[in-house]
Amino acid sequence: MPLQYLIGRVDFCGLTLAVREPILIPRPETEAMCEWTSYVFNRKLSNQNAQGECIWPIKVPFDFLSLGTSNTPTKCSSSSKSQIAPKLRILDLCSGSGCISLALASLLPQSYVVGVDLNPSAVALSNLNQQKAIQQGNISHERVQFVKGDVLNAIDLQRALSSLDFNLGTGPPFDLIISNPPYVTKLLYESSQIELKYEDKHALCIDEDESGLLFYSKIIEQANYLLKPLSELNSDRILPELIFEFGTTQQGRAIKKLLINTGFLTVQIVKDPFNRDRWIAATRKKLNEC
Ligand SMILES: C[S@@+](CC[C@H](N)C(=O)[O-])C[C@H]1O[C@@H](n2cnc3c(N)ncnc32)[C@H](O)[C@@H]1O
Repeated sequence: MPLQYLIGRVDFCGLTLAVREPILIPRPETEAMCEWTSYVFNRKLSNQNAQGECIWPIKVPFDFLSLGTSNTPTKCSSSSKSQIAPKLRILDLCSGSGCISLALASLLPQSYVVGVDLNPSAVALSNLNQQKAIQQGNISHERVQFVKGDVLNAIDLQRALSSLDFNLGTGPPFDLIISNPPYVTKLLYESSQIELKYEDKHALCIDEDESGLLFYSKIIEQANYLLKPLSELNSDRILPELIFEFGTTQQGRAIKKLLINTGFLTVQIVKDPFNRDRWIAATRKKLNEC
């Protein structure tokens, strides 16, 4: 059994999160994606008045977290928290234990985050983790909400979002969609290590999805209805509007194609600390690399 299930907790971006079998154990690669996201958004936020400054896509070395220079954040911790003026609304699809939602809420203190997961036990665990984060003083209680919803079903997702207490206003409410969805192919799952079998199979893969790309295409299809046409923070769209974790270089390339075909004009694949292609960030504006 994985150690984290035995001890019942994991450290993630400066938070101590509860883990409960079989909800997916948060991974270091996902932690790196959250760190990268806060790094990029904080670049914009600390340069708010700088006109024409290139913020992203930037070549950040995979070990950017350990460089310790003045313009790079330290590993996720309260020291990398920034004071953000405008509200940033983030949608975390397939939120599981709530790790991404809570890490971003903690690192981007003016953000409002909604986490959606189909599994009611995952939603319950994420609510527990939110309570712990509030008690530890990492977030204030009105900034994160978790809700049960089916990301593969647009009508159910809309129903879930409209049931929230947040005043989401009219029109598409989010500045950023982030997701670490099930992406393991059936073939890979069947040949995978025994350790993975302790985790909910539906958190890793779904039977009818041979390529592991189903969630990405469904989320990309819905992106225009979920993302603000113009957000207060990202009015010039110079920040990523969509960030996805994925499993293999091949999947990264396929997701890039899907994004470009849907009107995302800047798409960057980013490597994790193990130097593997691991997440992809995209915006509907054409940007030059810094
Ligand atoms: C790879 S896990 C990611 C969990 C968490 N975001 C993380 O990074 O640790 C994928 C999550 O997707 C959820 N899920 C599976 N099918 C779903 C669906 N149709 N709609 C919403 N969530 C779903 C699973 O319950 C699981 O929690």
